[in-house]
Amino acid sequence: MKYKNKEKVRLQKYMAQCGVASRRHSEELIRAGKVMVNGKTVTQMGVLVSDEDEIRVDGVLIKREEKKVYIMLNKPSGYVTTVSDPRGRRTVLDLIDGVDERIYPVGRLDYDTTGLLLLTNDGDFAYESTHPGKMVAKTYLAEVKGRPSDDKLDMLRYGVDIGGFITSPADVEVIKNKEKSTILKIIIHEGRNRQVKRMCETIGHEVVKLKRTAIGNLTLGKLKTGQWRYLTPREVNLALGRAK
Ligand code: URA
Repeated sequence: MKYKNKEKVRLQKYMAQCGVASRRHSEELIRAGKVMVNGKTVTQMGVLVSDEDEIRVDGVLIKREEKKVYIMLNKPSGYVTTVSDPRGRRTVLDLIDGVDERIYPVGRLDYDTTGLLLLTNDGDFAYESTHPGKMVAKTYLAEVKGRPSDDKLDMLRYGVDIGGFITSPADVEVIKNKEKSTILKIIIHEGRNRQVKRMCETIGHEVVKLKRTAIGNLTLGKLKTGQWRYLTPREVNLALGRAK
């Protein structure tokens, strides 16, 4: 991953991209000696710059506004959901190539959890998607050991104590009864650390496999494990539960 856009563009274009002024007005500012590149005043046209250069207009440092990007990844097991890992494990960013923006994962999936993970460089979007008060639904398929009784499933529905925290109401549905395990669809509106696993542990049914299948009204669709793609503007709204 590279974070700075190293592509060189004309100084006046760069200034326009930073929202300083139109290209033509930027040229006037350059001619008037108001623009410095890496500590030197530039008055001639044709200078090429990138995000690696320090550009000041009237002494004020300017920065290029990054385009906001939204990415969905079908996370495989065996990747950490961070930008870097002190233990040297593979991160979800290792799966994403060719994106210049400084993206980061929205929320977290455990190392062994698979499924829908969003990445963005839009802090407002990340906040809205993960803040418990905003109540964006997260849908999981959890394969648990054994066959939970109806009473135990009701406990998950009403809220359980996962160690100093009572979970808020969840939707819980049995999807499949297997010989020694059960697949549950669980929809929660919070994202405490290891929440689904801890909820299921509390009722005595350990999670053996966990996959997130939807965030808000956005589902994984046909995206294969390990693959990613950009979201459309409509899908950004789906992910926030604002569209159906
Ligand atoms: N709940 C969990 O227990 N783990 C995850 O990765 C996501 C939700």
